[in-house]
Amino acid sequence: MDAAALFHPDDTDWWRSAVIYQVYVRSFADGNGDGTGDLAGVRARLPYLADLGVDALWFNPWYPSPLADGGYDVADYRGIDPRFGTLADAEAVIAEAAALGIRTIIDIVPNHISEAHPWFQAALAAAPGSPERERFWFHPGAGENGDEIPTHWVSSFQGETWTRTTNPDGTPGEWYLHLFTPEQPDWNWNHPDVRAEHDDVLRFWFDRGVAGVRIDSAALVIKDPALPEVPENPGAGEHPTQDRDELHDVYRSWRSIADEYPDTRILVGELWLEDIDRFTAYLRPDEMHTAFNFDFLARPWQADELRASIDMTLNAHAPVGAPSTWVLSNHDVTRPVTRYGREKSGFAFLDKRFGTPTDLELGLRRARAASLLVAALPGSLYIYQGDELGLPEVEDLPLELIEDPMHFRSEGVDPGRDGCRVPLPWSGDHAPFGFSPEGVASWLPQPAAWSARTAETQASDPDSTLSLYRRTLALRRELPELHGPDFAWIDGLGDDVLAFRRGDDLACVVNVGTRPIDLPPHTRVLLSSAALEGESLPGGTSAWLRLETASADAPTAG
Ligand code: NOJ
Repeated sequence: MDAAALFHPDDTDWWRSAVIYQVYVRSFADGNGDGTGDLAGVRARLPYLADLGVDALWFNPWYPSPLADGGYDVADYRGIDPRFGTLADAEAVIAEAAALGIRTIIDIVPNHISEAHPWFQAALAAAPGSPERERFWFHPGAGENGDEIPTHWVSSFQGETWTRTTNPDGTPGEWYLHLFTPEQPDWNWNHPDVRAEHDDVLRFWFDRGVAGVRIDSAALVIKDPALPEVPENPGAGEHPTQDRDELHDVYRSWRSIADEYPDTRILVGELWLEDIDRFTAYLRPDEMHTAFNFDFLARPWQADELRASIDMTLNAHAPVGAPSTWVLSNHDVTRPVTRYGREKSGFAFLDKRFGTPTDLELGLRRARAASLLVAALPGSLYIYQGDELGLPEVEDLPLELIEDPMHFRSEGVDPGRDGCRVPLPWSGDHAPFGFSPEGVASWLPQPAAWSARTAETQASDPDSTLSLYRRTLALRRELPELHGPDFAWIDGLGDDVLAFRRGDDLACVVNVGTRPIDLPPHTRVLLSSAALEGESLPGGTSAWLRLETASADAPTAG
């Protein structure tokens, strides 16, 4: 079955306001009873995702992989890891999701590969200067004996970015580049084979009906072949490994491949860039469709910070005609329930520490309020699996079970990212909570307290976070005001308040502070993240309102 044919051909703009749910397959649902999530588990839970009301699924890498970095070390771009299933299972997921009106987006990892990939193994076996090595960044070492690293570039996972090889006779050989772990050698994108291979991989998956690709580490792919050190204050385009101008040609050519298909296939960039204009340059009409808004994700729970980010985002996206994206979390960052329960509620990779004091009740309250805020903003919305259940970060995983290389490369200082990758609790009152069959230990242990947060328990509780997400997404689908770009701030409600109008009289009011505030005159409260106190909106609460029309005209649109 052609999955793409199930969608209406005129629905070319589906991605502009889509709700996209991120599936971390390993931790979503275990269909074959081995303690690891898999595609059979996803197939069984598709009705849950349809009920939740999402438009698309983004799958983290599902390819064969030694899992040195949770699957972002790909050994074969055209296969499925046997722990997750088969290519036929992936095709079935794509088709069955499409039958429920849900599109599929997959993860493409162009910056690096697994050391187990046949091309890298061939390069290791070949001699210095051989064509096999030219597809990667092999280089002699610096210093008289070649035993010093070629550059001092720092890894995104901390530490050095070069590893020395060993020659067949046991002597030390050339070095190779890896911006992440040594098990993830970087591709050389100046080599035509690397470009052709990726073009082919895109078509391989588009031909199987995927509606889009999420591009991993998209700003790192091109390197300066002269291998200079990083300048002290690199100007735009001057960093040897980040945001190089030549990248735009790569994504233009990918866009032309996506555009070969009659229905819209999208490119979504993972771009961690501080300069918003450099960021939106990737979203010009002939490049990517959208990119993750990490600026918003990283901001603390403070009205001025959130407002500044929203303004900056909307203003920078408008000129390129691309929709903004709103992302509260993903498989790399601390879950919002935990993050918003902390004194420092912003996010930075280098700040993660064991034992940070956290008020989870406050965090959950704010995370629920944040979910109404992001669902009311113009653009597309990403939901990371488990956020709809209000799951916190798991911060007491036994150290011997942690697998994330970020933990090890920080010498144990950084707890790593496994705490947001713990298998989902589906049902029952003890682990594995329906994730795996009774008696099977999941690959990471779930906290006993998750008995109160299972999908089953929450489905029957109208006040649960799951019920709130379902209501929010159903309303978002129903309200036409939320699908276009129209947006105006409503001012005058207080310094700790974010309030804005969508359309003539739909408003979202977020009380970021702690004291109750008066709501603007309204005819109806459509939704709220916690109970109102009479006509007041308590601290850490959001509401969607129908404004009185007269009052809708009154506030100053900022
Ligand atoms: C970004 C991914 O989201 C992250 O999980 C991964 O570790 C790095 N890219 C390297 O692929």
